[in-house]
Amino acid sequence: MNDVMSLGVHRLWKDTLLRVMSPRPGQRLLDVAGGTGDIAFRFLDYVSSRPEQTDPSRQRDISSKYYYCASEERAGGGLASGQEPSSRAVVCDINKEMLKVGKRKAASLGLAATGLSWVVGDAEELPFDDDQFDVYTVAFGIRNVTHVDRALREALRVLKPGGRFMCLEFGKVTNPLLARLYDAYSFQMIPVLGEVIAGDWKSYQYLVESIRRFPDQETFKCMVEDAGFSRVQYRNLTGGVVALHSGFKL
Ligand SMILES: C[S@@+](CC[C@H](N)C(=O)[O-])C[C@H]1O[C@@H](n2cnc3c(N)ncnc32)[C@H](O)[C@@H]1O
Repeated sequence: MNDVMSLGVHRLWKDTLLRVMSPRPGQRLLDVAGGTGDIAFRFLDYVSSRPEQTDPSRQRDISSKYYYCASEERAGGGLASGQEPSSRAVVCDINKEMLKVGKRKAASLGLAATGLSWVVGDAEELPFDDDQFDVYTVAFGIRNVTHVDRALREALRVLKPGGRFMCLEFGKVTNPLLARLYDAYSFQMIPVLGEVIAGDWKSYQYLVESIRRFPDQETFKCMVEDAGFSRVQYRNLTGGVVALHSGFKL
């Protein structure tokens, strides 16, 4: 559905997130609401390919293939509080079924079981100790969280000092012409696609409405600052259809 609804563009938005993050080997990622594994796979791929990046002819298109991932099931559903995360990327989602989707994707890609953990957990009450991760990401997930302020405070708590918060979320389109086209597509096409492909009009109607209810880019920037992050900024992607917010725990 992500591919159909965004005409595949969600892959480019996720690639942009990784390019801006530019992670280094040895860094630890927590991807919250990350059930599909899309961000974690890209992170591990990016990190693994980093030593080759001095030779442009050997650079890989990170959207085309995932080289590293794993389905490392942990007892009790994940990483317990007080336990040092051994993996380089931890995918955390409140929905076990979504994590299964990510795991199946990893398995279907035939990838080895290293570097990745799958953890059931709520963004508002993360099952991790303080100061654990170098990067916290949430892609198209924070909109679904009941108390966004709590989720942001949790992000700050689990990041190491100097760690980075990055959020991909739908935003407000500023160009009036694009906004009109986007509205027409959202309200007239997305629920229809939801019905035809997933047999679920209501959920996709809700999706469109929840996008409209989510705070605009400037308001969300203030919320990230209020949670305690520094050097908060955002960039609009595809004319503001999506925004990438970033901030640091200093
Ligand atoms: C639209 S999906 C995004 C999945 C993935 N990040 C991506 O971009 O492909 C939203 C995800 O948020 C998860 N979610 C909703 N509320 C959550 C919460 N309170 N804590 C953690 N995950 C949550 C859902 O289970 C779902 O997997």
